[in-house]
Amino acid sequence: MRVLGIETSCDETAVAIYDSEQGLMAHTLFSQVAMHAEFGGVVPELASRDHVRKLVPLIRTVFKAADLPFGEVDAIAYTAGPGLVGALMVGASLARSLAWSWEIPALAVHHMEGHLLAPMLEDRPPRFPFVALLVSGGHTMLVDVQSVGAYEILGETLDDAAGEAFDKTAKMMGLPYPGGPLLSKLADQGRPGVFEFPRPMVDRPGMDFSFSGLKTAVRNAVAEQARDGEIPESVMADIAWAFQEAVVDTLVIKCRRALKETRHRALVIAGGVSANRRLREKLQDMADAQRCKLFYPRLEFCTDNGAMIAYAGCQRLQAGQQSGLAIEVKARWSLETLEAVNG
Ligand code: KG4
Ligand code: ZN
Repeated sequence: MRVLGIETSCDETAVAIYDSEQGLMAHTLFSQVAMHAEFGGVVPELASRDHVRKLVPLIRTVFKAADLPFGEVDAIAYTAGPGLVGALMVGASLARSLAWSWEIPALAVHHMEGHLLAPMLEDRPPRFPFVALLVSGGHTMLVDVQSVGAYEILGETLDDAAGEAFDKTAKMMGLPYPGGPLLSKLADQGRPGVFEFPRPMVDRPGMDFSFSGLKTAVRNAVAEQARDGEIPESVMADIAWAFQEAVVDTLVIKCRRALKETRHRALVIAGGVSANRRLREKLQDMADAQRCKLFYPRLEFCTDNGAMIAYAGCQRLQAGQQSGLAIEVKARWSLETLEAVNG
């Protein structure tokens, strides 16, 4: 079965074709980062308008790249939430309209399920059950994954998401948008031990996260340094190092707890922050020590992409699922409400 996947939940217009026999046939993406950079963050109305402009040409491109006649798929999967409603509506409307005219089913996909299943696109995919750490710009959660769609949330953030904490801290430190990856690059030049920030919530039981206090600690450190004039880049790098280390340590500690509690032997990390090199390094050390295996998507599938949506849609299509005809999207949508696919 072959599925066209469409992702428009935020600031990337992404399209892919996944085939259950042949695997990923083609994928393409247009990032709106340059457009939003001048405003220091995503402007929802501009995001929607740009999805309208880019989506149809990208769909044509992906069929060409897969060497398929236009429309030669069995279903269309689209991100139906969570995300920016206007942006989601663009993908949902086009997906539904194309599916109607091509007389094929359409499938509403949960964006975080897409991220969670992205490592399945790699050569050595994880096997169920596993623990998933989902760390993106909008979400931070630990999930007990029994099979596709059978998700139990073990813990989530009480305030900022990990990616959001990276982005907000980067902004505070004067880095341009999108700050997360830049802050992490700056941290690579920092020296360990110069600054020390708290590891939030690690002394409390449970697997929830909180990152807003850490953001305040960085703000105070920056303010204190700025008293003596402009902060040299090397000091900024030391602050970035300490911030990244605090976020990474917190995530690692909670992942270890989740592995112990569930007794699963595999940990999956996905979402934009799973691209972070230090996080991968420290999670690998922890997983080795626990005799567990660590899985993550290739770098380009850590952040938003169409491949993960096409893949998730294909799993649901194979299980005989499809969505009703209404064009429905959700700004908020719990992973736990999804229907399980028992494959
Ligand atoms: O999954 P994603 O592309 O979009 C959402 O669904 O939110 O994640 C984007 C987030 C942003 O907050 C970005 O700053 C963060 O992922 N991010 C990183 C890195 N690369 C992307 N954060 C830390 N280190 C990175 N290398
Ligand atoms: Zn995402």
